[in-house]
Amino acid sequence: MSAVGVVKAITPPNIRARKGSTPLVCLTAYTTPVARLVDGHCDIVLVGDSVGMVLHGLPSTLSVTLDMMIMHAKAVRRGMERALLVVDMPFGSYEESLEQAFRNSARLMAETGCAAVKLEGGATIAETIRFLTARGIPVMAHVGLTPQAVNVFGGYRVQGRGEDADRIWRDALAVSEAGAFSVVLEKVPEPLARRITEEIPIPTIGIGASAACDGQILVVDDMLGLFGDFRPKFVKRYVELGEAASAAIEAYACDVKERRFPAAEHVFGDELKAITGGEAT
Ligand code: KIV
Repeated sequence: MSAVGVVKAITPPNIRARKGSTPLVCLTAYTTPVARLVDGHCDIVLVGDSVGMVLHGLPSTLSVTLDMMIMHAKAVRRGMERALLVVDMPFGSYEESLEQAFRNSARLMAETGCAAVKLEGGATIAETIRFLTARGIPVMAHVGLTPQAVNVFGGYRVQGRGEDADRIWRDALAVSEAGAFSVVLEKVPEPLARRITEEIPIPTIGIGASAACDGQILVVDDMLGLFGDFRPKFVKRYVELGEAASAAIEAYACDVKERRFPAAEHVFGDELKAITGGEAT
């Protein structure tokens, strides 16, 4: 079999080797068309459990299921050639036992073709990370604000302020020692994210963290201005697609009501051309 023309996909060891080098570009995707848009620009594409809030209108990520993650990950996989595809393990799919975590991660990888999974949690989940990586499942960790623990935190608050900084630092060190190939640092104070990045040997991927991180991630719908339910301070909106879409839908509604749409160029002529061999226009 020839390898000519085959794009070599980025692997977890490639990401691990990028520590301290050019920042890693990461975005979420939940559908094939968005995966096609982001693949060429990203090192990592994450099918995040944020899909529950962003696409399904759920109030939190807590009711996202493994089946939902598998369906979206399959769609994203079809739009990807180059970036590393990482898929979130949803709440309740990995915390109960090492065996449960392996069974569900293996199913996610087998059914979707993703090359790695992401788990939320620090020191408490380190043993699971060690168990999975030893059995062929690369793990990206996620510490700081872990949205699946929103009820424990009492909201989507910055984590690791003041004396609490040590807890987050120990979490990051624990997941790194357990074998995670990278770690997301979400919503932690900038000096803490900088310190963790300097002190742990795996790439840190920041979201509401620090420009010093080894990479950055955003929810794609947030940076495109498509998700308006909240506007976190850490999101930079690169375009307001939601506003553009709303104006386009309003214009369409007006055109329909005023009979300006469809116009002559949007309708078909008589059948004569088809009968005489020409294509009906
Ligand atoms: O679910 C998600 O999209 C995430 C990223 C924001 C890191 O976990």
